[in-house]
Amino acid sequence: MSYSLINVYICDTNMDRREFIKVASVGACAATLLPSVGGLLTGCTPVISDGDSGGGLDSGKWDFDEVVDRSGTWSIKYGRASENQIPMWIADMDFRTAPAVSSAMKERLNRDVLGYTFTPDEFYQSIIDWEKEMHGWHVDKEWVSYCPGVITSINQAYLTFTYPGDGIVVMPPVYNLFRMYAERLGRQVIDNPLLFDGEHYQVDFDGLEKTLSRKDAKILVLCNPHNPAGLVWDRDVLRRIATLCRQNGVLVISDEIHADLTLYGRRHTPFCSVSEDAAAIGLVFAGPTKSFNLAGVSMTAYCVIPNEELREPFLKQLRDAKLDEAPIASLVATIAAYTEGTPWLQSLKEYLQGNIREVVDFFSTNDLGIKAIQPQASFLVWLDCRAMGLGQDELMRFFSDKGLLLSNGAAYGQGGEGFVRMNIGCPRKIVKEALGRILRASSGLE
Ligand SMILES: Cc1ncc(COP(=O)(O)O)c(C=O)c1O
Repeated sequence: MSYSLINVYICDTNMDRREFIKVASVGACAATLLPSVGGLLTGCTPVISDGDSGGGLDSGKWDFDEVVDRSGTWSIKYGRASENQIPMWIADMDFRTAPAVSSAMKERLNRDVLGYTFTPDEFYQSIIDWEKEMHGWHVDKEWVSYCPGVITSINQAYLTFTYPGDGIVVMPPVYNLFRMYAERLGRQVIDNPLLFDGEHYQVDFDGLEKTLSRKDAKILVLCNPHNPAGLVWDRDVLRRIATLCRQNGVLVISDEIHADLTLYGRRHTPFCSVSEDAAAIGLVFAGPTKSFNLAGVSMTAYCVIPNEELREPFLKQLRDAKLDEAPIASLVATIAAYTEGTPWLQSLKEYLQGNIREVVDFFSTNDLGIKAIQPQASFLVWLDCRAMGLGQDELMRFFSDKGLLLSNGAAYGQGGEGFVRMNIGCPRKIVKEALGRILRASSGLE
């Protein structure tokens, strides 16, 4: 079976794999669409720069208030929405990308040269500088590699380090594709749900100790920062996870795709930076696709793997699957975003904070049985609707009947029932319209 062939490299070591992980030295480290958006926003015409964001261009020189026309761009987000629905589900934003990114891409295309392309030094350097400046992490060049998208890369890591039937540990409610692809690849998903007291989420460390001690637990997938609840994990939490995982010979995949979007002055902590244990057992996957709104430039990501005993088999796996060659668009976009994109990103984050404020204030002012969990990162707001007393299907129908297409909380696994996820990465006018629809629906006016 192809899986066993694929796994020969790592599993060929004479050592038991768990022992191997424990003793591993850390090598070098210690719509249908916009014309109709106007139509779908009852009583709200699409306006370019309407100044309705509590200061118009309050976030610098970039106009996040602009309703950008996504018609004819094959947008998945709008494609699934009916004509009168506001799509606030899949995680891309309705803003233009940073001008620095689009102009770099245009410039490159203007050369009309699209032949086979190697990954240049500038790509590595832009990531090294970004990790240092944004996240305070010193990364050696050899730890970094181009990766074909975060989820594709996580799947390749599953194939590199596990056999069919092996256990992949997740902490739901969490990004659903960790589970989906583990199952598709014949791996067993082991849940260690987060603890939630109605206000805050926490890792269930008692549960984790038991879960990780299972012989079949091979990989823990960490969402750092966490989607859907927008949590930024503390260094101490990450350190504790690393210690436990190393003790039990379990690898950690840290999905850091939302890392650049930490809000309210918080800083993201890269998993592998927290301790020697973390660097020995961790694989970090990240990229500019969330922060710079480049989801359609897919196959765009990078990994940072300090331990060469993990890095080499993983990179071999990518090479063997011919997934190691970066598309030109990925290289150009990443370099431009990370070398020139910081001011735009700062403005974007301020704007997102304003949108989040709208949502959080709205649900705390209006007693609708819905509570917004204030995200510490990114543009997704996790709404606790359990007090509405609706079943999950009814809950989804409630929102879709009122013209809102949100993500179904149940898709994120245990603890997601009774929740929905709202994507507020759009002009504030649209956020307000969505909230207005909920209010009118709840007060029986519609
Ligand atoms: C946590 C997380 N990881 C990965 C992805 C997708 O990454 P990619 O498109 O690079 O596969 C998403 C997209 O929403 C995400 O939220």
